[in-house]
Amino acid sequence: MKILVLNGSPKGQYSITLQTIHYLQKLCPKHEFEVLHVGQRTKALEKDFTPALEAVTKAKLIIFSYPVYTFIAPYQLHRFMELLKASGVNLKGKFVTQLTTSKHFYDVTAHRYIQDNCQDMEMKFIRGLSADMDDLLTKKGQKEAKEFLKFVFWSMKNNVYEELPVKSEQVVQTKPVEVPENVKGTEEKPGDVVIVTDCEKENTQLQNMIARFRNVFPRKTRVVNIREYPFIGGCLGCFSCAVSGKCIYIDKFDEFLRNEIQTAESIVYAFSIKDHSMGAQFKLYDDRQFCNGHRTVTMGMPFGYLVSGNYSEERNLQMILEARAQVGGNFLAGVATDEVNPDDSIDKMAAALNYALEHKYIPPQNFYGIGGMKIFRDLIWIMQGMMKADHKFYKAHGQYDFPQKQWATMLKMYLVGGLISNPKIKAKMGNAMNEGMLMPYKKLLEEK
Ligand SMILES: Cc1cc2nc3c(=O)[nH]c(=O)nc-3n(C[C@H](O)[C@H](O)[C@H](O)COP(=O)(O)O)c2cc1C
Repeated sequence: MKILVLNGSPKGQYSITLQTIHYLQKLCPKHEFEVLHVGQRTKALEKDFTPALEAVTKAKLIIFSYPVYTFIAPYQLHRFMELLKASGVNLKGKFVTQLTTSKHFYDVTAHRYIQDNCQDMEMKFIRGLSADMDDLLTKKGQKEAKEFLKFVFWSMKNNVYEELPVKSEQVVQTKPVEVPENVKGTEEKPGDVVIVTDCEKENTQLQNMIARFRNVFPRKTRVVNIREYPFIGGCLGCFSCAVSGKCIYIDKFDEFLRNEIQTAESIVYAFSIKDHSMGAQFKLYDDRQFCNGHRTVTMGMPFGYLVSGNYSEERNLQMILEARAQVGGNFLAGVATDEVNPDDSIDKMAAALNYALEHKYIPPQNFYGIGGMKIFRDLIWIMQGMMKADHKFYKAHGQYDFPQKQWATMLKMYLVGGLISNPKIKAKMGNAMNEGMLMPYKKLLEEK
């Protein structure tokens, strides 16, 4: 069987993920594996997409093999997906799956992104394998990889695949936005909010959303259109920035990010939904922020979004936007869309963002934020020798919140555990445990 591997890692043959593919290849010498290094050939594929078209057409099974990069697939794979869908190639009914390596930080949203796009093309999508980057070096990881391929072959033989989603009958059309006259000149307003957008010249809808926001928002705003930034290329995953935070590219994006964007009091992102995400150009911008490593450098800064498109149908994108804000310690003031009543939606987001800025509103993190940061904390602790800038930041900001030093709480728990394991004492306790747990709260509530 012809198996096409679309290697989305910018590291090409040095991809860790690809090593699992090689492992599977070794296990099945009867099958013909072809690897296309799409993550390394973006510019060539933009010029001539024919090699990719020929390969996907010939294949019986397609495997997307890639690293998880900042919540989704790397920019390079986003761009490949854009080119693939734009080519109009008919892949209906073709089997497809995916294999990633990562530290499991938002691997779920990356997998969903690939699944949603493959299902747009009506491909038969088989659930993929999300491995830790070190898994293949363990017996357990090898077994899981082997069983994954077995499952894929079984699925193909029995025509078992993920059901195509039922398309919503109500296709929401974006509604026009009214841009009111500027009540107060931008220059007279206080503050500094940066609107980061990927906005094409022809995209008047998004331009109007931005214009309305700027006019109704009572603070000074400026626009950075990342479409115009002279990026040399996408993040290469080279880790050159790990020690000093300096990117290997000479396009000075790291300096631009630090001097023009991170200095603002808040960031508003504005984009039109493309391929179930913010689009390849935004992904390029996101990946290149790896020069900040895993440091929550915009912590405390509220975020807002202006989104054109069917946002209410994009569950995965909703999770990405919320999780990004959560992990970064940013209050998500709102996501304004042009689906139902764009004017009202924009005005409300502007009001909430202004409130957050005026009152310095920083609510606690939820599961998305706390869970994500625990993965980062453990990762940076282990990698402290190499991720020097991250390690310094985590130490300085108390982000190594390992629970080991809470000796008093642990002792208390041993004591309670000892008491409740004795049935006689437990029976006598009655409601004492609940009462005991509420004691500190009672004290607080009785305070004058
Ligand atoms: C720019 C960049 C972003 C990353 N983002 C994530 C992430 O969001 N979640 C995660 O678990 N790992 C993340 N990683 C780690 C990679 O997924 C991991 O190192 C992977 O195994 C690399 O695979 P490759 O060698 O095939 O490219 C990131 C690495 C880089 C360089």
